Amino acid sequence: MNVIEIKDLQFSYDEHQPVLKGLSLTVKEGEFLAVIGRNASGKSTLARLINGLISPLSGEITVLNIDARKKENLYEIRKNVGIVFQNPDNQMVASIVEDDVVFGPENLGIPREEIGERLEFSLKETGTAEFRESMASKLSGGQKQRVAIAGILAIKPKILILDESTSMLDPRGREEVMSVVKKLNRKEKMTVITITHYMDEVVDCDRVAVLNDGVIVKTGTPKEIFSDEKLLEATGMEPPVSMKISLALNKLGVNTPLTLDKQTLLNELLKLTKKPE
Ligand SMILES: Nc1ncnc2c1ncn2[C@@H]1O[C@H](COP(=O)(O)OP(=O)(O)OP(=O)(O)O)[C@@H](O)[C@H]1O
Ligand SMILES: [Mg+2]
Repeated sequence: MNVIEIKDLQFSYDEHQPVLKGLSLTVKEGEFLAVIGRNASGKSTLARLINGLISPLSGEITVLNIDARKKENLYEIRKNVGIVFQNPDNQMVASIVEDDVVFGPENLGIPREEIGERLEFSLKETGTAEFRESMASKLSGGQKQRVAIAGILAIKPKILILDESTSMLDPRGREEVMSVVKKLNRKEKMTVITITHYMDEVVDCDRVAVLNDGVIVKTGTPKEIFSDEKLLEATGMEPPVSMKISLALNKLGVNTPLTLDKQTLLNELLKLTKKPE
């Protein structure tokens, strides 16, 4: 089943500068999709269109079979699409972690008892239970983003969008957030769309969509995308380091398989450097 269907979407913030120029994309239930593309290519705009924060000029967009263009559907859409943004500090609504996590379901009028259950579930899934009574402001960036994800989980959305959610974090914080999200995708079958500039985060995704000049120019597995040198050049993207090295080796006439996996690359290099018996 497709949870998102977008056809020929056009959007602009002002009439002289179209941002999306006929974008089409489908996202399957339970998929882990990465959306990549250069700065200002329209990635965040696409995220806002998916959860109905803005409305397209033309084209079709359905989320869980609901028309996301219609104002009367916005409540239903927002209950089902959670977005985690870049800056963890802008996403906290309450000063204590627990209060922050229950804010969403309280606003939706969920019964008390169920809120309690959702709180426990969300804290557990994101590994934030240990600082449930802490001041959110005292947490690290990675911890804050996990609290932000907990707050979204408490709403029980079917789709989670990460819009550069790890870009203000240190490597450890990035790892914390990505491992929570991967677990939710696998265990809870949550559909995840991650918008990121970190190509290393893209490697483990099911599928990658490349946004360039207002349209999706290619979708494919990470390997298909990152071994397409013409595409990378045209869209100003650098492949992850293992792919870069294997592409470079092939250009030098060293016949190694193209790989995104560091260990595979190292094994191949070791084979090459082994002296013949
Ligand atoms: N609220 C807004 N009002 C007017 N123009 C906007 C607004 N938000 C974005 N834009 C413009 O729309 C275009 C696409 O912006 P968008 O933020 O969607 O790109 P992006 O791919 O998310 O970029 P980045 O990688 O820098 O986050 C840019 O030219 C941007 O300047
Ligand atoms: Mg953006």
